[in-house]
Amino acid sequence: MEKLAIEGGISLNGEVAISGAKNAALPILCAGLLTAEPLIISNVPHLRDVTTMLSLLGQMGVNISVHDKLGIELHASNIHTPEAPYEMVKTMRASVLVLGPLTARFGEARVSLPGGCAIGLRPVDQHLKGLQAMGATISMDHGYMIVRAPRLKGVRICMDLVTVTGTENLMMAATLAEGTTIIENAAREPEIPDLAACLTAMGAKIKGAGSDTITIEGVDKLHGASHSVMPDRIETGTFLVAAAATGGTVRVTGARPGTLDAVLDKLREAGVKIETGTDWITVAPNGTNGKLRAVNLRTAPYPAFPTDMQAQFVALNTVASGTGVVNETIFENRFMHVQELQRLGADIEVEGNTAIVKGVEHLDGATVMATDLRASASLVIAGLVARGTTVVDRIYHLDRGYESIEEKLSKLGARIRRVS
Ligand code: UD1
Repeated sequence: MEKLAIEGGISLNGEVAISGAKNAALPILCAGLLTAEPLIISNVPHLRDVTTMLSLLGQMGVNISVHDKLGIELHASNIHTPEAPYEMVKTMRASVLVLGPLTARFGEARVSLPGGCAIGLRPVDQHLKGLQAMGATISMDHGYMIVRAPRLKGVRICMDLVTVTGTENLMMAATLAEGTTIIENAAREPEIPDLAACLTAMGAKIKGAGSDTITIEGVDKLHGASHSVMPDRIETGTFLVAAAATGGTVRVTGARPGTLDAVLDKLREAGVKIETGTDWITVAPNGTNGKLRAVNLRTAPYPAFPTDMQAQFVALNTVASGTGVVNETIFENRFMHVQELQRLGADIEVEGNTAIVKGVEHLDGATVMATDLRASASLVIAGLVARGTTVVDRIYHLDRGYESIEEKLSKLGARIRRVS
C-alpha cells in the first residue's frame, strides 16, 4: 500500500495551479447519460473518483474517449445495463448520481444501496423522494434500489434538507421530464450552477441554479455539447491552509476566489494576509511574528463554511495560538483525523460533533493513517508543519480527490515523496 513520507518544518512558497473540481466533474460525467450525442468535457481532474465514474459509465455501455488536455468525450448513444453495482457504489458514493439521468432517459435505473460510509450514514432518501414525486416507482431488490418511470413528470419538490448530490440528481432528472419541476430548498454549492451550465449547453432549460429554488422546464431531448469543469474550491482551500500553516507565501492560480468567501474569511481571522484577483488567491504571513490564531468554525451548506474544509482547519488550529472550537453539522463521525493528529502531539478533545482544538508549540512527526479524503488532507498539512518525518498511510483516499498532490507540494518546496 502506498504512503506519503513528509519531512516537515519547511514553509511552502511559490505558485500552484488548481485542477478541475472533482465534485463538479462527477455529476457532469453523469450528465453524459442524458443525451445520445457526444458530450465533451474539459478540465477534468485526473483522480481516482473520476476513473471510477468512467469505468461505471463504460460498464453501462457509454463510449469514452480521452482527449488531450484533460478532455473526455462521452457518447451514450445507447447503453445496455442501466445499473450501478455494489462494487462501484461502495468505493464511491457519488455513483448514485446516475440514478436521475438513467431514469429520465432510459426509464429505469438499478443502483446499489451505498451501505456504511466512514463519515456517517449519508442516506439517499431525498433523491428517492424527489424521483417518486416525479412519478417514478421505487422498489428494493437484493440491496438494489430500482427506479422506474416511463416518463418523469415535472412537479414541485421541497427537499427536507440541503443535499448536494440529491439536488444534482433531481435537476438532471427534471431536464427530460414532462413539464416544469421546481426544486425548493435546493443546495447552492457552486458545483450546481456548473452542472446547470453544462446541462444548459446541452439544451436544458434551467433557472435559479445557485439559489435555493431551481426551476427546470423539461424538454424532449438533450443534444451534445462541450463544457469546461470549474476549478476545485476544496483543493484551492487545502493549498491555502497548507501554506498558512507552514507560514509560507503561496499563490494559487486558475482558481475561483468567489467560491471561497467563508474559507478566506476564516484564513484572515487566523491572521494571514489574503489577496485575490479574478482567478488567483495569494496567502502570506501577516505582520512581523506571523503567528496564527486558532479559529472557531461551524460547517453548514454553501455559502457557509464547507464541511470538506473542516479537517484542514482542525490541522491549522493545532499549531495556532489559543483554542478553536470546530462544530461539524453536516456529517456525524467526521472527526476521524483527530486521533491521528493526536499521534503528532495535537491537543484536541471531541465532544459529540464539536472538536476543541488547543494550539500547541509544535507537532512531531509520526506514522498516521488516512481514513477518508479530507482527513487525509489534514494529515498532510499536519505533516508539513511537524518536526521530523510523518508517514501518511492509506493515501488511496487522497488520490480519490487531489490531483498530483505530492508533485504540486514538492514544487512549493515541500519534502514529500510517495513510498510503497
Ligand atoms: C456532497 C459532496 C461532498 C460534500 C457534501 C456536503 C459530491 C460528489 N460530494 O456529498 O464532498 O462533503 O456534499 O457538502 O458532491 N442526506 C440525507 N438524505 C439524502 C441525502 C443527504 O439525509 O437523501 C444527508 C447526509 O447524510 C448528510 C447531509 O444530508 O448528513 C448532506 O449530504 P449531501 O449534501 O447529500 O452530501 P453528498 O451530496 O453525498
